[in-house]
Amino acid sequence: MEKFHIVGPTRLAGRVRASGAKNAALPALTASLLTDEPLTLRRVPRVRDIRTLQKLLDHLGIGAEEREGALILRRERESSDHDAPYDLVKTMRASVLVLGPLLAKVGHARVSLPGGCAIGVRPIDQHLKALTALGADVQLSHGYVEVTGKLTGTRFRFDMPTVTGTENVMMAAALARGTTVLENCAREPEVVDLANLLNAMGARISGAGEETIVIDGVESLGAADHTIIPDRIEGGTYLIGAVLTRGDVTLEGANAADLAPLLDKLAGVGASVEVSAEGIRVHCAGDIQSLDLETAPHPGFPTDLQAQYMTLMTRADGVATISETIFENRFQHAPELARMGADIRVEGGRARVYGPKSLTGAGVMATDLRASACLILAGVAAEGETVVDRIYHLDRGYEGMELKLQSLGARVARWSVPMS
Ligand code: EPZ
Repeated sequence: MEKFHIVGPTRLAGRVRASGAKNAALPALTASLLTDEPLTLRRVPRVRDIRTLQKLLDHLGIGAEEREGALILRRERESSDHDAPYDLVKTMRASVLVLGPLLAKVGHARVSLPGGCAIGVRPIDQHLKALTALGADVQLSHGYVEVTGKLTGTRFRFDMPTVTGTENVMMAAALARGTTVLENCAREPEVVDLANLLNAMGARISGAGEETIVIDGVESLGAADHTIIPDRIEGGTYLIGAVLTRGDVTLEGANAADLAPLLDKLAGVGASVEVSAEGIRVHCAGDIQSLDLETAPHPGFPTDLQAQYMTLMTRADGVATISETIFENRFQHAPELARMGADIRVEGGRARVYGPKSLTGAGVMATDLRASACLILAGVAAEGETVVDRIYHLDRGYEGMELKLQSLGARVARWSVPMS
């Protein structure tokens, strides 16, 4: 079992570079199922979710080779097995992203239902409704979903914006017969990045990033060489850390437009935000004000930065009401922050954070990927020693976080503790 040992308080200062976006790389990897040609992906982050998906793709006949920093995926053998087994899917629900491309390419897929996770039930009913509308036969049994059929373009409206739902169906429609119009789509930058990749492979997709996406199906898709967009959630985590610790951090290689909802918030609480060719510089010397937050689909404030923002509000002057509108159970970091001295009262989908409170180091436990990040930031700002347990959650989506924090001046070390 691995833990992070942190000694605070330290001030984060310096330059840090964003890695490739995990949530753009995952659908990009599954796009390899749509073609018989090699797919070259650059800036793929070295995180556990990517390795997990590579194992699943290997099981499905797609090999991966690292060459000069790029990941080259190519079909190495015809696999009669179009199954995504439970033991792989249960560790990473994004495995559901193989459903659309497999169905489109070979007319069949059988994927273990992902099941819930710490932050919520996370159904995939929208994915299945859309694939049904495209002409697929959908069967649910023994914890698996099986989809078969040839796909025909149609018009479909999602009941709510769903990121992987939009991605799954966009990939399925790319090889469908005729035109598909998808309405009420997710508008996240990761959706746009996937559309750009698919178009580079020969797809004909327009409108990604808007509510309505139009996909003209094509016969086949070919090779592409694509660089994954920078990770706005990883980068935003370090920028929040700059304000939390009254520091001065420049985030390099990030796309400021993708981070606009966060940058507006940081300026609103009283931090200085400067965007230039050098990168995004955020610094804060004085006190910060409490500011309410409501998470929303892009271009609203991302739910994946809610926990980190809650940590920031523990040290802001006033009361901040944080409304989590995307997931039903995404405040599990609150009681862990309370162990460090925060005053947070959770009522359903709302958390009230009373500040400013000086945080003190404590033993805390990560419950999910972004909660891990918020507790680590809290440890950096807190007086004394913090040990964050279950750091495997963090390694799913943050590339070398301890190294990046150390380069910004934090006193953090990864401890490997033998399983008791
Ligand atoms: C993606 O998850 C991200 N994961 C999540 O990041 C992110 O939190 C989430 O989008 C919201 O931005 C990846 O991209 C791999 P949704 P996804 O479908 O696609 C409901 C992280 O930390 N819904 O947009 O699974 C759902 O329950 C992870 O990197 C249905 O009801 O999220 C939720 O309330 C955590 N039926 C809302 O929609 C469906 O069929 C949005 O979920 C699909 C979704």
